[in-house]
Amino acid sequence: KKERTLAMIKPDSITKVGEIIQKIYDANLIVTKAKMTKFSWKQAADFYSEHQSKSFFNNLVQFMTSGSVIAMELMGDEAVSVWRKLLGPTDSSVAQKEASTSLRAQFGTDGTKNAGHGSDSLASAARELEFFFPSTAGHSPSSTA
Ligand code: CMP
Repeated sequence: KKERTLAMIKPDSITKVGEIIQKIYDANLIVTKAKMTKFSWKQAADFYSEHQSKSFFNNLVQFMTSGSVIAMELMGDEAVSVWRKLLGPTDSSVAQKEASTSLRAQFGTDGTKNAGHGSDSLASAARELEFFFPSTAGHSPSSTA
């Protein structure tokens, strides 16, 4: 089933964007939107608001605001699960113990600095894509003409 998902390259892996995009294409997904940006504290806290009560929340927001990120819309068969499989386990040290070729095994460091993010469901994908690539209904150039 053709799906769309939100992929994010985190600040620790911003220099690996070439290798990461190659892996995306090798997995039969395509990049249909892309944006490089830097989170403000508030934007990062909003993006991760479901984790605001967690012990790791401040570390996470600190890390996510430490440099630029690249957000991408990926499209393809089973895009949500295919991209999460490319990322590997959330905790990079676990990913490395699996001796896997996942992005987190290769480029991540630990449970927080873990190279990338992927939506965990179609519902999350819809919300997270809207966060980075808001739909422009009602704001087309013709509506201001
Ligand atoms: P991500 O897939 O972006 O979703 C939530 C992020 O919180 C996760 O990747 C990690 O960067 C970070 N995080 C830090 N500690 C934990 C933890 N114990 N469990 C899950 N996520 C964590």
